[in-house]
Amino acid sequence: MTEETISRGLEDVNIKWTKLTTIDGDKGILMYAGYSIEDVINSGAMAEEIQYLFLYGKLPNKKELEEYRKKVEEGYNVPDFVLDLIMKLPPESDAVAMQMVAFAALAAKEKDFKWDKNTDRDVAAKSIGMMNTITANVFRHIMGKGPKKVEKSESYAKSFLRTVFDREPSREEIDAMNTALILYTDHEVPASTTAGLVAVSTLSDIYSGVTSALAALKGPLHGGAAEAAIMQFAEIGDEKKVDEWFENLLKQNKRLMGFGHRVYKTYDPRAKIFKKYAEKLIKNSKEAEKMYKIATRLEELGIKQYGSKGIYPNTDYYSGIVYMALGFPLKNNMYTGLFALSRITGWEAHFIEYVEEQHRLIRPRAVYKGPERREFVPLEKR
Ligand code: ACO
Repeated sequence: MTEETISRGLEDVNIKWTKLTTIDGDKGILMYAGYSIEDVINSGAMAEEIQYLFLYGKLPNKKELEEYRKKVEEGYNVPDFVLDLIMKLPPESDAVAMQMVAFAALAAKEKDFKWDKNTDRDVAAKSIGMMNTITANVFRHIMGKGPKKVEKSESYAKSFLRTVFDREPSREEIDAMNTALILYTDHEVPASTTAGLVAVSTLSDIYSGVTSALAALKGPLHGGAAEAAIMQFAEIGDEKKVDEWFENLLKQNKRLMGFGHRVYKTYDPRAKIFKKYAEKLIKNSKEAEKMYKIATRLEELGIKQYGSKGIYPNTDYYSGIVYMALGFPLKNNMYTGLFALSRITGWEAHFIEYVEEQHRLIRPRAVYKGPERREFVPLEKR
């Protein structure tokens, strides 16, 4: 084996087949099980319908949706010890790391978990419900509030907003949250999904798979960009300072966060939808409006500089402005926590597809570059 055989970053390596998501990176097309992301959003579908599509491979009828939602709502009742653990962490902790603590705790409790075609989807639906209460409580803790379990309402999005903010969200807010949940549901096998697949390929449990995926999502080159992108708008602080800031970025040879993608070589279709929602919602928040003005000018400069290299805004570029306009504080990686709240569905759907139908332990090789065999000298003679 030589170094030339290494596929750096596993680029262009196919790790599994999937019936879930397909991406045409050159044309900027994203489809969920054959439905274009634009059609899904324009249809006004609920996030729960899309969760069902990912777990069961078809859109639910009314009765199936109702039954599915009951399973999710069962998950809202997260065991008390998990919420206690979240509340014991320092409130300045990273939101995604707190989600990891919660899922690691569930893995500790569910030590007898076994993958089983008859129960995998029920467990997944329940854990998608648990993620709602877990994320809401991570946020409540960061915002200085006590624990509170999510209660059922007319939608997953509404129940979440209600629990985080202790008030009835508006129709417009529910719609934006629901859209964000759908847009981040799945994106084939990025670093987080792959990390989770590695874990479950050992037949480790579903909660450990989610914990591994969260660990990989957290970094600034992946889900962490959701927060890093808006952080840079906040750092610029004023629309008039964008050009100078960008010149400095180029001089320092740094990356523009929320730009570029391993697969998309054109405008990410999700970014277009997030941009539309950001534009619609900024009337509710002066701060978000300021960020939006900075972002649009920076986008112009970014596309001019990088467009010819196929580097365009990705899904994380405008999502933060939507979250800010919805009232989520820009701190502790909370925006990446919102990404995880949606992506758990894609992660678990891929785990199920892999373990049930194409399972094999993931165990790549490394090309050895160290010294040849040599004599081991005992400590006292060194
Ligand atoms: N800003 C400036 N230059 C960039 C950017 C960027 N955002 N992204 C890529 N490039 C440049 C690199 O500097 C490199 O240039 P070079 O060939 O002159 O050295 C070239 O493009 C290729 O970069 P790679 O890192 O090899 O490309 P990769 O396919 O790994 O990039 C990645 C994907 C990591 C997402 C990258 O675009 C990036 O770092 N973006 C910023 C972080 C970000 O927004 N991440 C979110 C991704 S979407 C998601 O996870 C939901």
